[in-house]
Amino acid sequence: MSMIYRPRRLRVSEGIRSLVRETRLTASDLVYPIFVVPGTNIKKEIAALPGNFHLSPDKAVELARETYAAGIPAVLVFGLPEYKDECGSSAWDMKSPVQLAIAAIKQAVPELVVISDVCLCEYTSHGHCGLIHDQKVDNDATLPLIAKVALSHAQAGADMVAPSDMMDGRVAAIRSLLDDSGYSDISIMAYSAKYASAYYGPFREAADSTPQFGDRKSYQMDPANAREALKEVAFDIEEGADIVMVKPALAYLDIVRQVKDEFMLPLAVYNVSGEYAMVKAAAAQGLIDEPRLVIETLTGMKRAGADIIITYHALDAVKWL
Ligand code: PBG
Ligand code: ZN
Repeated sequence: MSMIYRPRRLRVSEGIRSLVRETRLTASDLVYPIFVVPGTNIKKEIAALPGNFHLSPDKAVELARETYAAGIPAVLVFGLPEYKDECGSSAWDMKSPVQLAIAAIKQAVPELVVISDVCLCEYTSHGHCGLIHDQKVDNDATLPLIAKVALSHAQAGADMVAPSDMMDGRVAAIRSLLDDSGYSDISIMAYSAKYASAYYGPFREAADSTPQFGDRKSYQMDPANAREALKEVAFDIEEGADIVMVKPALAYLDIVRQVKDEFMLPLAVYNVSGEYAMVKAAAAQGLIDEPRLVIETLTGMKRAGADIIITYHALDAVKWL
């Protein structure tokens, strides 16, 4: 029987499928998040994120080497500090694990891009991402502190800072302090459309950053909103963001596509801890083929428009490509 359209013709062999493949996931698309703790010689698996570790700065260097050797161009550094207080002052302490790890990694593996997460929640006694006044997060009082954290990361040697606090105006505050301090080449990857998500559960356990009262809904976005994400992205670009981000990834791929179509900046997505934990739990039960599922999911994120994918699967995924 003669038929004009036979799409299956282009699926008959791996060679042909490869020729017509529209999306290619590569190691160079990925960013690997790491968690740094005080001390030396510590490498302890994080129960909430199996296959990921709490690392002292010296051990973070080893993992950074491994990451770079695997072809992954960047790490995203999170820290668990030695002390916490009301204003999160360990976040800009040059002797805190993040600052020490950034410096050590840049010294040992200078080609690896070091991106630092900029926030206060891991460092404040109340676990919120900003300063608390009268039981509320005080946006404007938080801005100079966030900028100070970013500057301390730049001084430690970070190539890029990634504010995740969702305060209004933080990109402008960071940009202006960095520029005034001689760091105009340090780029900003803004967590622009960051939703108030249940998918952050395992991360908060890993980073010890659960809010001690209330929730983050007064600063992170309502999962029901899409137009508002475009607005957040537009503001961050006007304030000087170099890269914008949508977070989480999986439940927000429509947002990823809309941001990609509307704006010209590189777009990152964060394949967050809860997304990772679901895959790991299903794989542990033998319910899914983990390598295939991970590559399919990350490819879907790229197809939706992501240029950069931050993922706990990074080191595994490069083996499965
Ligand atoms: C903190 C921060 C969070 C994540 C990255 N930075 C959690 C939160 O907002 O509570 C989530 C990452 C993940 O779940 O993997 N500002
Ligand atoms: Zn935070």
